[in-house]
Amino acid sequence: MTPVLPPKPSARPDRVSLWRYVKLFRQDLLSAQPAKLYRAWMAEFRTPFFRSFLVNQPELVKLLLKERPDDFPKSDRIAEGLKPLLGNSVFLTNGDAWKRQRRIIDPAFEGGRLKDTFPAMRAAAEAAVARLEGRQGPVEIEEETSHAAADVIFRTLFSIPIEHEVAGRVFTRFRDYQRSQPLLNLAAFVPLPRWVPRFFRRGTRRNAAEIRALIEQLTAERMAAIKAGTAPDDLATKIMTTRDPETGSTFDTAEMVDQVAIFFLAGHETSASALAWALYLMALYPEWQEKVAAEAAALEDESFAAVSKLKISRDVFRETLRLYPPVPMMVREAACPERFRNRAVPEGAQMVLSPWHLHRHERLWENPDGFDPARWQTENGKQCQRDAYIPFSAGSRVCTGAGFAMVEGPLILSMILRRFRIEPVEGKTPVPVAHLTVRSKNGIWLRLSPRQPKLF
Ligand code: HEM
Repeated sequence: MTPVLPPKPSARPDRVSLWRYVKLFRQDLLSAQPAKLYRAWMAEFRTPFFRSFLVNQPELVKLLLKERPDDFPKSDRIAEGLKPLLGNSVFLTNGDAWKRQRRIIDPAFEGGRLKDTFPAMRAAAEAAVARLEGRQGPVEIEEETSHAAADVIFRTLFSIPIEHEVAGRVFTRFRDYQRSQPLLNLAAFVPLPRWVPRFFRRGTRRNAAEIRALIEQLTAERMAAIKAGTAPDDLATKIMTTRDPETGSTFDTAEMVDQVAIFFLAGHETSASALAWALYLMALYPEWQEKVAAEAAALEDESFAAVSKLKISRDVFRETLRLYPPVPMMVREAACPERFRNRAVPEGAQMVLSPWHLHRHERLWENPDGFDPARWQTENGKQCQRDAYIPFSAGSRVCTGAGFAMVEGPLILSMILRRFRIEPVEGKTPVPVAHLTVRSKNGIWLRLSPRQPKLF
């Protein structure tokens, strides 16, 4: 077993006043929670204003996500903060509107399509390595992985690199948006009455409008290219030409803007976060780093088939998603009254699912806070992967990009380690905090040196 544990935020004391809780929450979602959530099957947050339940028991998680998802729709509270940017995108909708959107989107992400997407992904990975070549001294790696993941999205979706003028502007605007509007904010836990006016931080709406205008430009150009028969065969073309098998309709430009916004948001922040943590963990555990680097020689073969040989890299990435799930918590709403673990759950209660706590649950996982990619080959690891591992959620609302992300992450990780040896920077231990995704408070700093002799 490895002696050093990966960074974990300190928990708050078990009992704090509501006022202090709200204050802690505003600082960071993770350290606002008590340590007992790593042992509890279910917890209730009852205050004079709201009631919410955190659900950690595998049977209950399964019930909410897989068995009865229609009775636990996405909470409106999440939509509140994100509506200006995401409109009616698949991330926010429920019911029939959501089902139609998934029928049109899902075929673009099917296993077979990943092979077609792969050359664009590989080109983005090569560009990321090339950018790192020129870097001297300590590197803030989250910045680099954000850049790389945004590049992957633009290349696979619209066949344009991040250097493209519009792509670059969307990327910077999103960064500003993320700073002003977390994906999961206090509103998700504190349901406000409908009549309370919603305020967005200054700039949030303006930023959202600018991003949407830029995406609209890309989408309208693509629609014209499809009509002219000159469109490239990428994800955007696939999604815009797929007909709903039930109604025969396609997305119009406005609907497509909503979807592109969420692909960009959900697909780049998450992958960037996971990749940055994976690289940090590799710096912390050089014995694993060497294994990934050696295995990466398989990438000399540039075809999609080489990805299946990156087994260690995949286990490392999977372990990273366990310890640092980019989406740390998800919220659903009870559509009808329930009784769980002998407790009344009223209609409208907020049901919080926490990959962060479930993935480190002390009663389920062996060595829950340790970094051990070999666990996935053990009995406990396999059992927990089925019952207590939901980095991409589960059930019908599972992440559309899960398969995509599990190719992208290990690929970029291996490409970087094939070229560089990485080390942590002294005095710069990252502290996980939940913003839009699980990030480090002051960035993730690494020192890179070219591998000698080159492994390729
Ligand atoms: C490591 C990378 C990723 C992680 C950890 C991740 C995680 C998640 C999670 C947990 C959800 C469910 C959220 C909820 O129910 O509240 C989700 C939804 C979603 N993700 Fe991902 N994601 C990743 C990458 C991607 C990529 C690459 C794409 C697309 C290119 C993508 C597109 C989406 C979409 C469209 C949804 C909404 C699905 C729905 O509600 O029906 N994600 N993701």
